[in-house]
Amino acid sequence: MQHMKRTVMVEKCVCHDVPFQRIAAFAADRPETTLDCVREAFGCGGSCGMCRQYIRRVLTTGETSIPLIVPAQSTSQ
Ligand code: FES
Repeated sequence: MQHMKRTVMVEKCVCHDVPFQRIAAFAADRPETTLDCVREAFGCGGSCGMCRQYIRRVLTTGETSIPLIVPAQSTSQ
């Protein structure tokens, strides 16, 4: 049986149901947009905070579909 690897894409702030496309459009009109600006405008990043690293990437690259970022596992016990 062949093991299939699937890439999970992240495309929105789940807590506030805001697609990254909307954030990219917001930022396109405001070149100085920061994560704080996005939080003030949409609330994104202000709840669980899981979307922050993705929003930073949206703001720097314009990408709106980003592969799931899995934190490295700690090797300490
Ligand atoms: S996913 Fe954006 S604040 Fe939780």
